[in-house]
Amino acid sequence: MGAATKTGYADVLVGLQFGDEGKARIVDHLAAGYDVIARFNGGANAGHTIATPSGALRLRQVPSGVLHPGVALYIGSGCVVGLQQLASEIAMLAAQGISLEGRLTISDRCPLVQPRHVLADRRDGARIGTTGNGIGPCYADLAARMRGAERVAFQLRDLWCDEGRVFELMTRLASQADDDDEAIAAMVDGMRHAWRVVRPFVTNDAVALLRRVEAGARVLFEGAQSVMLDVVHGVQPWVTSSHTLPAYAYVGGDLPCRYHRKTIGVAKAIVSRVGNGPLPTELGGQRSEAYCAAAAHAGRGRADEAASHDPLKLLAEADAFSTGVAIRMLANEYGTGTGRPRRVGLLDVAQLQRAIQQAGVDEVYLNKCDSLAAFSHTPERCIPVIVAGEAGSASQRVLQFPAFAHGSIPTDAASPLPPQLEALLAWLAHAIGRPLRGIGLGPERAQMRLLEPNQQTTP
Ligand code: IMP
Repeated sequence: MGAATKTGYADVLVGLQFGDEGKARIVDHLAAGYDVIARFNGGANAGHTIATPSGALRLRQVPSGVLHPGVALYIGSGCVVGLQQLASEIAMLAAQGISLEGRLTISDRCPLVQPRHVLADRRDGARIGTTGNGIGPCYADLAARMRGAERVAFQLRDLWCDEGRVFELMTRLASQADDDDEAIAAMVDGMRHAWRVVRPFVTNDAVALLRRVEAGARVLFEGAQSVMLDVVHGVQPWVTSSHTLPAYAYVGGDLPCRYHRKTIGVAKAIVSRVGNGPLPTELGGQRSEAYCAAAAHAGRGRADEAASHDPLKLLAEADAFSTGVAIRMLANEYGTGTGRPRRVGLLDVAQLQRAIQQAGVDEVYLNKCDSLAAFSHTPERCIPVIVAGEAGSASQRVLQFPAFAHGSIPTDAASPLPPQLEALLAWLAHAIGRPLRGIGLGPERAQMRLLEPNQQTTP
């Protein structure tokens, strides 16, 4: 028997590149059309930024629909919970006048990130360039379950049952891996306090979201990281440790997949990646990768680059590495959580086509179109776009589109787009075979432009 017509549905939104495509601002934009915004994967490794009139709001675990008071928020069992980070996020939002009471629900099946996981990630994650939040070791322990005679994984529901015992076991497990007992005790103590803040939001109802959908709720699942960082389909070991493909929304989001309606992909007009691993179209190639890794290690970021470089001069040099630094500065490509410089690359349409096909994407939003204006300062005054083959390989094909000046980007919704951008977007929609629903022309909420159906190229 099919779902009754009165029931709700779910859409899934995922990033199509290497993370940081600006998913949160699209979720924020779409949120009013949904009743629930839900997370299904990852944890405090996600850094989601939404521009607000009172400054940027930085979220890590709370779903990005938070600015819409009528929208409920759900953290599904596929997410790992960092208690202290979640408690401080709740406090940060409360300080801004945003109460989550009665709005946020967290599955009690969520695995708990333990001090041991954070310590192990900080020790072993550097080669991958992880965010250091203990996410990988937490998912690993969930699968391992036991070490010798000891349980190594705990879910929020274990804290409900016997928090004293769980905190004691976590302390012991951490001490076996690290001899800084004082630091471990402080971490566990922080978790005890944080649990008091988080506990009221936790539900033991495994069908809490399903009930709402059966009653008519419209759900938007918000993916963290991106399809290229999927633990199985990304390039090991330079991936995150959860499943990022949209099908996983129904496993980690606690809803039967029969309620799926459509899949929304978010990409950006220049590509970026934090941490190590392949970024085939990286401007400056290995030099950029090594430079960004060293900067992350030394804690150098935005301020250091701003103090040492003039981006317009770098763009005039006609050197790929310099162009990458300049675009990072102009497009503000620095990690949300960590402040690390992101590695910057050209738009890779071949990669986008594969991601759209594999993830079954129905429609696309393209952020950071304004950052393409940087190419008007290069000697060629052209926007290079990779359309086939591996970057640097003999099979690689690059198309050059005429650049447009930053000054020609409209500041109001009524003014037309620069014709060069219009042409590029029409070509792109045709190339990916999916409609482009909206584009980002700057970080502010008002700088998101929806495209009229006649501006979209549908297959
Ligand atoms: P982890 O998820 O902290 O284990 O990190 C594994 C890889 O995923 C690293 O390359 C991280 O930089 C990357 N990563 C994790 N979360 C994000 C994100 O929200 N945006 C972009 N990259 C991320």
